[in-house]
Amino acid sequence: MSSINYSEKIPNNVNLADDRALQRALEQWQPNFLSWWGEMGPEGSHGYDVYLRTAVSVDAGGWAHFDYVKMPAYRWGIFLTPGEQDRKIHFGEHKGETAWHDVPGEHRANLRRIIVTQGDTEPASVEQQRHLGLTAPSLYDLRNLFQVNVEEGRHLWAMVYLLHRYFGRDGREEAEALLGRRSGDEDNPRILGAFNEQTPDWLAFYMFTYFTDRDGKFQLSALAESGFDPLARTTKFMLTEEAHHMFVGESGVSRVIQRTAQVMNELGTDDVAKLRAAGVIDLPTIQRYLNFHYSVTIDLFGADHSSNAATFYSSGLKGRYEEGKRDDDHRLNEHGYRLLDVQDGRLVEREVPMLNAMNEVLRDDYIKDSIAGVGRWNKVLEKAGIDFRMTVPHKAFNRQIGTFAGTRVSPDGRVLSEAEWAANEATWLATPQDRAFVASLMGRVAEPGKFANWIAPPAMGVNRQPVDFEYVRFN
Ligand SMILES: [Fe+2]
Ligand SMILES: [Fe+2]
Repeated sequence: MSSINYSEKIPNNVNLADDRALQRALEQWQPNFLSWWGEMGPEGSHGYDVYLRTAVSVDAGGWAHFDYVKMPAYRWGIFLTPGEQDRKIHFGEHKGETAWHDVPGEHRANLRRIIVTQGDTEPASVEQQRHLGLTAPSLYDLRNLFQVNVEEGRHLWAMVYLLHRYFGRDGREEAEALLGRRSGDEDNPRILGAFNEQTPDWLAFYMFTYFTDRDGKFQLSALAESGFDPLARTTKFMLTEEAHHMFVGESGVSRVIQRTAQVMNELGTDDVAKLRAAGVIDLPTIQRYLNFHYSVTIDLFGADHSSNAATFYSSGLKGRYEEGKRDDDHRLNEHGYRLLDVQDGRLVEREVPMLNAMNEVLRDDYIKDSIAGVGRWNKVLEKAGIDFRMTVPHKAFNRQIGTFAGTRVSPDGRVLSEAEWAANEATWLATPQDRAFVASLMGRVAEPGKFANWIAPPAMGVNRQPVDFEYVRFN
């Protein structure tokens, strides 16, 4: 089961050829996917040869094969991590029962909703990033962008397989609709807010892949615990791809900071105007981008108090991050969780049943994980002898979803009046001027081994190739 059959029209390790009706349905969806890619995939890229990895096996080590590929010919397919024998549901009311290999009737609507919501984020991010190739700071970065894009396309395939295989006609309609919505479209937008924002420049791209792809990691990790075994297995394999996306983000921001720090030391200044004149992105602007992407991303976890989240957990559809490593009863009926609330202009804690706080539980795990990487960015500043430190804002800052929607809170967690917010917003969130400045630095660097002035080269290349390898051939 773990080897992938590439001789078929749709590469897969799910014995697709044994289910003719399913195979036919997916083969009908395939050209629609390709025309979506042609229309909404990376702009102008269709003739390029790109040094990409393709999955050759779903086994833990060495699943990737690297070669030049024209992206429309990328072998998108259906890959599931091999199943465990006699796997049991390990949380919620069905704990101890055999994992489901088909969709239980009573959970059908919720499971479909979970799969569609996850599936919708995948093409959305490709749409958000589709112009970035025109301004890539190097061939190395351009290749990484394209790798992320083709893998998000494959993640869409992963969810579409589940819809086609397990949800009949409704599933096929949902799969069509996933190609119909458009990021940022007024009439037919993507489902979640952050996936309708723009990713207009490369600093935004690195922040997105650091913060928002990490939301992907946490959502997928929670689904990898699912009692619905096919969902658990498909999201497990998606997680192996997600790791690279977050690497692109973390190393990307790190390289931007490294370059800025270098120029600060060369010029002996932290003066924003002087640094901008020298063509690097000043640290306060990087911090404002961080504040934006972080706050928009933590909204993706949903309302802090949610009966849907309780149902998803209790019915065994969606677990916690690393559910299997926790040593409580995995039912949580008796557990409480402390949520933040606003009372008389102050943030206060209140205790609620943990089941109703499952979104917050996942968000808090996410927050811990994202802070770790910010610490690594600060090491770059420390090493350069610069005092500035990046921080993640308070979790109530700039929220649109849940308890804090409509409350103005500063990055350090003070509840503000509308006037205080308005007076300070431009120091906390990237302004149109910041974005225009960053945009002014963007321009394609297409010579192997050359990098735009505002970013440091990476420490090493892809797949042990040198940094000056020709990662993309434009032809
Ligand atoms: Fe993804
Ligand atoms: Fe991703």
